[in-house]
Amino acid sequence: MSVRVPAKVNLQLGVGPIRDDGYHDLVNVFHAVSLFDEVTVERAPGLEVRVQASPYSRVRVDGVPVDEDNLAVRAALLVAARLGVEPDVAIRIRKAIPVAGGMAGGSADAAAALVACARLWDDREQPVLTRDDLMDLGAELGSDVPFAVLGGTAVGLGRGERLTPALTRGTFHWVFATADGGLSTPAVYAECDRIRAERGEAAAPPRVSEELMTALATGDAKALGAALTNDLQPAALALRPSLRRVLDAGLEFGAAGALVSGSGPTCAFLAETGEDAADLAEALDGTGFAEQVLRADGPVPGAATR
Ligand code: C5P
Repeated sequence: MSVRVPAKVNLQLGVGPIRDDGYHDLVNVFHAVSLFDEVTVERAPGLEVRVQASPYSRVRVDGVPVDEDNLAVRAALLVAARLGVEPDVAIRIRKAIPVAGGMAGGSADAAAALVACARLWDDREQPVLTRDDLMDLGAELGSDVPFAVLGGTAVGLGRGERLTPALTRGTFHWVFATADGGLSTPAVYAECDRIRAERGEAAAPPRVSEELMTALATGDAKALGAALTNDLQPAALALRPSLRRVLDAGLEFGAAGALVSGSGPTCAFLAETGEDAADLAEALDGTGFAEQVLRADGPVPGAATR
C-alpha cells in the first residue's frame, strides 16, 4: 500500500495570543503543493520504519527519527489501537519535502501513514474509519496533520486543525528556496511571543484576510502574491537573519509575492505564470543563497493511494 502526500505552504498564518494549553489560536490558510513524500506500508512481523530521500530529491533525512518520535510510527500505532489490531507493519518513507523546513513534511508523513494503515488493516467493504475519522486522529498527532489528509486549500482555525475548504480557481505556480538546517517550530512560536512581549504588543485574535480569499476565488496570482502574510516571519527572520536576502532576491527577480513558509526556514515565492516560475527558480538558483530551489504548483489533493 503506497500513499503520496503533499507539502503545504501557508498563504496566511495569523497567530493570536498564546492559550493556556501552550498553543496559539490561528488563522491558518493552508495550500497543498506538488512536492510529495511517499509512504509505503507492508504487513511485517513487527513495527519497523525506514526513511530515505526520494530518488528525485536531495533532501537530507539524517534528522528524521526512526523510533516512536517519528510521526508516521505514531500514526500507525493510533490506527492499530483504534482498529484493535497489532501494529505489525513495515513503514518506508521516501522524502522529497524538506525536513524541518516549514512545509509540514513530518505531518505529511503522519497523514500518509494514517491513510495507508487504514487501507491495510481496515480492508472490508464498509471501512470502519472514514476520512473524517482519519482527520480527527491526525489532530491528535499534530496541528497540521488533518490538512495533509484533506489537501487542496483550506482555512484552519483553532490550532489550525479545524478546517474549511476554500474556493480557488486555477493553478498557482510556486518556487521554494530551502535552507541548510531546519528551524524548530516551538522555538519560532516562542520567539514570536518574545518579540511581541518586548514590543509591548498584545496579539489580537487573527481574522481571515478578505483580499486573500478573493484572490484565491478569482485565481488572481498578482493579488494573491500581495495578500500573502505570515505572523511567524519576523520570528523566523530573527532566528535566521540570512533569510532576508533570499526573500529580497526573489522579489527583485519579479516574484508576485514572497514569504517564509510556516515556521521556516524554507522561503516561498509565488509567480504569475509557470514560465515566470521557471525563470524565477533559475535566477534564485544562480544566487547561491538557497540550499535547493524547487518548483511546485498548487492546489493539489491530500494524502491518496497511488
Ligand atoms: O501541533 P504541533 O505538534 O505540530 O505543533 C508543534 C509546536 O508548534 C507546538 O508544540 C507549539 O509550540 C507550536 N504551535 C503553537 N500553536 C499552534 C500550533 C503549533 O504554538 N496553533
